[in-house]
Amino acid sequence: MTIERILDYAHSLMKKTIEPGDAVIDGTCGNGYDTAFLAELVGEQGHVYAFDVQEKAISNTQERLKEHGLANHTSLIHDSHAHVQQYLQEKDQNNISAAIYNLGYLPGSDKSVVTKPEGTIQSVENVLATLKKGGLVVLVVYHGHPGGAEEKDAILEYVSELDSKHYQVLHYGFINKKRTPPFILAIEKLS
Ligand SMILES: C[S@@+](CC[C@H](N)C(=O)[O-])C[C@H]1O[C@@H](n2cnc3c(N)ncnc32)[C@H](O)[C@@H]1O
Repeated sequence: MTIERILDYAHSLMKKTIEPGDAVIDGTCGNGYDTAFLAELVGEQGHVYAFDVQEKAISNTQERLKEHGLANHTSLIHDSHAHVQQYLQEKDQNNISAAIYNLGYLPGSDKSVVTKPEGTIQSVENVLATLKKGGLVVLVVYHGHPGGAEEKDAILEYVSELDSKHYQVLHYGFINKKRTPPFILAIEKLS
């Protein structure tokens, strides 16, 4: 297929943005796939801050990182991504090159624990403030679950209103699928 699928495209954007040694954020670590991907990209000189509100997500991610020898340069934070700024080392304040969020629930776990519009927007707002010029925030928006439509609408409204002098925002998704396919919102900081 020529057109990249949603998760592949999210990773392509991350690959283009992240350099070895960078500090990055996984706002929803879940089973740790994205955290491990980011930890590979930043390498041992870089740092990944990975958040989740579920103990199970933190332990699943920890296991995955250990398996791949990536645990040393990752902080696993059992707290809401809304509090991201409290956890960044001083040298990483205003120096984050990328962040990724997979919205929704953790597959294979408690489907009632989902990301919420207020927390997600609060977190993105905080991360944008710490993002360096040329930095990127990628949101993979799953919205087929209860509460998903409300979160999708709120986040679309929020990103649509970001000042185009400072940010450009991409909306990437397939529009001829029957169900409620996920889509990507990618925010690049211009200045
Ligand atoms: C779609 S899953 C993430 C999948 C993950 N990226 C992966 O690679 O496996 C969404 C995750 O967001 C977490 N979550 C929900 N609310 C959160 C919050 N306020 N802060 C951080 N994580 C949250 C859930 O516990 C769940 O694990």
